[in-house]
Amino acid sequence: MQPFKRILLTGVNGQVGHALKARLTTIGELVALDRSQLDLANADAIRSAVQAIKPDLIINPAAYTAVDIAESQPLQAQAVNAIAPGIFAEEAAKINALLIHYSTDYVFDGLKNSPYVEDDLTQPVSVYGKSKLAGEDAIRAVGVPHLILRTSWVYGSYGKNFLRTILRLASEREGLKIVADQIGAPTSADAIADATVTILRDIKSGQSGTYHLTNAGETSLYGFAQGIVDTYEGMQAVKGWPDLKTYVSNILPITTSEYPTPAARPANSRLNCSKLKHDFNIELADWREALLDVMHSANFRPQQ
Ligand SMILES: NC(=O)c1ccc[n+]([C@@H]2O[C@H](COP(=O)([O-])OP(=O)(O)OC[C@H]3O[C@@H](n4cnc5c(N)ncnc54)[C@H](OP(=O)(O)O)[C@@H]3O)[C@@H](O)[C@H]2O)c1
Repeated sequence: MQPFKRILLTGVNGQVGHALKARLTTIGELVALDRSQLDLANADAIRSAVQAIKPDLIINPAAYTAVDIAESQPLQAQAVNAIAPGIFAEEAAKINALLIHYSTDYVFDGLKNSPYVEDDLTQPVSVYGKSKLAGEDAIRAVGVPHLILRTSWVYGSYGKNFLRTILRLASEREGLKIVADQIGAPTSADAIADATVTILRDIKSGQSGTYHLTNAGETSLYGFAQGIVDTYEGMQAVKGWPDLKTYVSNILPITTSEYPTPAARPANSRLNCSKLKHDFNIELADWREALLDVMHSANFRPQQ
C-alpha cells in the first residue's frame, strides 16, 4: 500500500461521501469537507483548499446529481461535474497527489445490447451525463495519476435514493408503476466505499485508469422496486416495521415512454466490471445481497 498522509474528501453529506468518511480514517489523516466548507462551483475555493490542505490523496464523490433539474441548470451542473474535477486534477498534479473521482453509466447512450466496457464509445444523452463525461475528460487531459470509477444506480441507508423513495411511496400508496425497460445494476454506497478502500490498499504508485464499479447482476428499475418491497416484507416481522400499502404483487411494470422525465436516461445502464476484477481482484456482491446488507444494517430506517 502507498502510504497516504493526508486525504481530502469532498461531498461528505452525499451517499458515497458519507460511506467513505466512515472508512477513510484507517487509510490516513482525513480532511472531510461538505458543500458549506468547499463549494465546488467556486474554482478559486478549490485551488485554495488543495493548496492549504496539501493532501497526497484527493477523493471527489461530490457531484451535481439532480439529473432532471440539470436539464434546466446546465451551467451549475457543468461547474461542479465538469470544471471542478479538472481543477482538482491540476492542483493534484502540482503536489503529486492521487485523484480518485466517481462517474456514471450516464456517459453512455444505452443503445448497446450488452454491458459497457470502459473503452466503449461515450455518448451521453442528458445534460448531467455530458457534464460528467466532461469532468472525466478534464482529469484525463491533465495527465495526473487518477482513478475514475464509473458506477450506477447508487443507493444506501443514507441520503436521497431509489430505495428510500420506493419505501416511502409504498407506505403511502396502494400500488406503484415502475419503469421496466431500463436495466442496470443497483449499487450500494457502502459497496462503492469498501471497494475504494480496497483499491487504495492495493494501488501502485503512478497507476491510473477508468474502471467500472457496480454490484453484480442486473435488473430493471421495476425489478429493483420489487426486490426492495420483497426484502422489506421478508424482514418486517423481525424488525417490527409497519405494513406497506403496496405489496410486490401490486407493483406494475411500465415503459419509459409512459413515465416521461425532463432528462433522457439510457435503456442499458449495465457496466462490465471485468477490468476491476483483473487489475484489483475486486468483484462486488450481487445487487440482491447488497440490498439485504443495507436493509439489515443497524442504521437503516425505512420510514425516514
Ligand atoms: N446517485 C446515483 O445514482 C449515481 C449513479 C451513478 C454515478 N453516480 C456518481 O457517484 C458519485 C457519488 O454520488 P452520490 O450518489 O453519493 O451523490 P449524492 O448523494 O447526490 O451526493 C452528492 C454530494 O455532492 C454535493 N455537492 C453538490 N453540489 C456541490 C457543490 N457545488 N459543492 C460541494 N458539494 C456539492 C452534495 O452536497 P449537499 O449534500 O449539500 O447537496 C452531496 O453531498 C457522483 O460522482 C455521482 O455522479 C451517482
